[in-house]
Amino acid sequence: MGRIEFRDIYKSFGSKHVLRGVDLVVDPGEVLFIIGQSGAGKSVLVKHLIGLLRPDRGRVFLDDLDVTDLKEKEFYPIRKRCAMVFQNSTLFDSMSLVENVILPIRKHLGLTDEESRDLAMEKLRLVGMQRYSDRYPADFGDGMRKKVAIARALTLDPEYVIFDEPTTGIDPISAAMVDKLIRHLSDNVGVTSIVISHDLRSIFGIADRIAMLYQGKLLLDGSQSDFKTSEDPIVQQFIQGLPEGPMEV
Ligand SMILES: Nc1ncnc2c1ncn2[C@@H]1O[C@H](COP(=O)(O)OP(=O)(O)OP(=O)(O)O)[C@@H](O)[C@H]1O
Ligand SMILES: [Mg+2]
Repeated sequence: MGRIEFRDIYKSFGSKHVLRGVDLVVDPGEVLFIIGQSGAGKSVLVKHLIGLLRPDRGRVFLDDLDVTDLKEKEFYPIRKRCAMVFQNSTLFDSMSLVENVILPIRKHLGLTDEESRDLAMEKLRLVGMQRYSDRYPADFGDGMRKKVAIARALTLDPEYVIFDEPTTGIDPISAAMVDKLIRHLSDNVGVTSIVISHDLRSIFGIADRIAMLYQGKLLLDGSQSDFKTSEDPIVQQFIQGLPEGPMEV
């Protein structure tokens, strides 16, 4: 349980060939980071997992289930098992933080109002936002809103969580807290995570494995030390954040 596989994925938008044969397996309970330049296709790749995009070629598996050709409705149960924290997470501005987190609980779990609220508070506690539960999204910046979106994504106890840039726009302490939560979900709950990130501190802090997308394919798929010791100048340019180098922008 908890395995993800992308097999030979191709995806173009018009004449723009974003993914050109991506093969990637994420093992159960693993924290896999996807890195790569802006526009490399990181968000595009993960959207295939929950049917927000369909590949032009290739297959996508969750465990043994081939989800490639599922109908939109058949993705509903998949989206409960595989939660996504979007890059630009959206909360409902007219609802308090706790009401935002209660939404999926109310929709899917059939609990009483009190039980729903308790569960939502428990998830807010995971991200350190419980004391603001009755405030509204407009009172907070992007970082804190993102933490609430993470709490909301965890309400149905998903087996897989996709975090699209979870620490971007967050202060370093909150970022460390999010990193710790991602590791906790993996180590103690058995969640399989894909984390898209540019945050070198997160990448080299918590990744079990790193996959780097470049020009539509995986340039390197390996451990932290594989990346640190890689002699590929493009890998080095990226992980060192060098402005000059062989990488085509
Ligand atoms: N629905 C779409 N229609 C057309 N083009 C798209 C669509 N979604 C993504 N693209 C294009 O695909 C390319 C890859 O986009 P993607 O969002 O995956 O980049 P990314 O690697 O996540 O970058 P970033 O780090 O900036 O988030 C971009 O050129 C983008 O404009
Ligand atoms: Mg993206």
